[in-house]
Amino acid sequence: MEHFSVGVVGTGYVGLATGACLAYIGHGVTCLDNDQGRVAGLREGRVPFYEPGLEELIAKSAGRLHFEGSEKLAEVVREVDVLFVAVGTPQGGDGSADLSNIADVAYSIGRALGGSSPRELPLVVVNKSTVPVGSAYYVSTMISDGIDSAGGEGAEFRVASNPEFLREGSAIHDSLFPDRVVVGTDSWEALTALRTLYTPIVEQSFSTEWDPRPKVAVPFVTTDLASAEMIKYASNAFLATKISFINEISNLCELVGADVSEVAYGIGLDGRIGPRFLSPGIGWGGSCLPKDVAALRAVGREYDYEPILLDASVAVNTRQRKRLVVKLQRELHTLKGKRIALLGLAFKPNTDDLRDSPSLGIARALNALDARVVGYDPVAGKAAAKMVPSPR
Ligand SMILES: NC(=O)c1ccc[n+]([C@@H]2O[C@H](COP(=O)([O-])OP(=O)(O)OC[C@H]3O[C@@H](n4cnc5c(N)ncnc54)[C@H](O)[C@@H]3O)[C@@H](O)[C@H]2O)c1
Repeated sequence: MEHFSVGVVGTGYVGLATGACLAYIGHGVTCLDNDQGRVAGLREGRVPFYEPGLEELIAKSAGRLHFEGSEKLAEVVREVDVLFVAVGTPQGGDGSADLSNIADVAYSIGRALGGSSPRELPLVVVNKSTVPVGSAYYVSTMISDGIDSAGGEGAEFRVASNPEFLREGSAIHDSLFPDRVVVGTDSWEALTALRTLYTPIVEQSFSTEWDPRPKVAVPFVTTDLASAEMIKYASNAFLATKISFINEISNLCELVGADVSEVAYGIGLDGRIGPRFLSPGIGWGGSCLPKDVAALRAVGREYDYEPILLDASVAVNTRQRKRLVVKLQRELHTLKGKRIALLGLAFKPNTDDLRDSPSLGIARALNALDARVVGYDPVAGKAAAKMVPSPR
């Protein structure tokens, strides 16, 4: 197997899982972050968030996996064949994706390329962050601007989009055994490099303690840049809409006296629908679905297109969180002084990620009604306590 020298910028859920898995299958990986505390912790083997199996995988890959501060980016750019960008793309004020982290990193890559001696092969810059269609061209432009500003004409690079589909809580499993690997690019050098880099995963040929396992080849989807970027947004928009759909059905079931769990089971057996993401509840949250649906809606608005289905998914989701409070009011009449326990504070099990967690929104709404809210979460409890005022 051909081994690559790989850089990964951003050591969040995506960057760390990517770096650890690529190192585990044999590549030499340097992960970079501009959060010095995070880098210092990682060097001592501490993962800054709860993700099952990640700490162990990092330990197993020791020797092939290194951590550096962003100030080492220029050095890393000189040394690596492939550089992944996995920095955060949070929701901006108007709902659109905030690309400032991406722009900073791309410009710095350009400056590093422009300030280095010519490379034998072009640097392959791979965007793993979730970004709106067109961002790959924006990244190319920012890299070129950086190259120009460093006076380094002719520094060669190629850009690819390789969206990430891992789920927090099973990030390692999803990275090593993905449903698909998607690569969008207009460069055959980038495509060849990524196909080779991912060979052990695509062919499921790496050896693991999970062996023997069914070795079914993973679909390697190659497409253009815009389609790769859209595949990611469309996937998350579909999942969000599927949850909102079952919540809508659940509300109708309550009105007519049907049992939504029976209904979900019944419709999920239809191969065209499938059983997953059909659990009714307090709606979707977390660091991805809300911001990605918001960004896709913002893209629609940018093109003067009203994405009414996505708007409805969000409306159902917002209403779903409020419904819980209304139900409590119906049952308890007044919430003032009532002690209400929330079991589970992160947006789903097996993560301590509290970004846009429905539980926290509900806790705040209950607090505002003078209820006495107590919460429990096996991994996110302490962090949640800092984010929601304690009961009065
Ligand atoms: N978390 C998920 O489940 C998930 C799944 C698929 C895709 N994504 C996407 O992947 C991207 C990263 O998500 P995440 O959850 O890993 O984010 P995160 O917030 O957990 O981590 C981002 C990391 O990037 C670092 N960073 C930010 N700006 C930087 C810079 N200029 N230079 C160096 N480091 C910088 C931050 O310090 C942080 O450590 C986002 O676009 C997200 O939408 C996330």
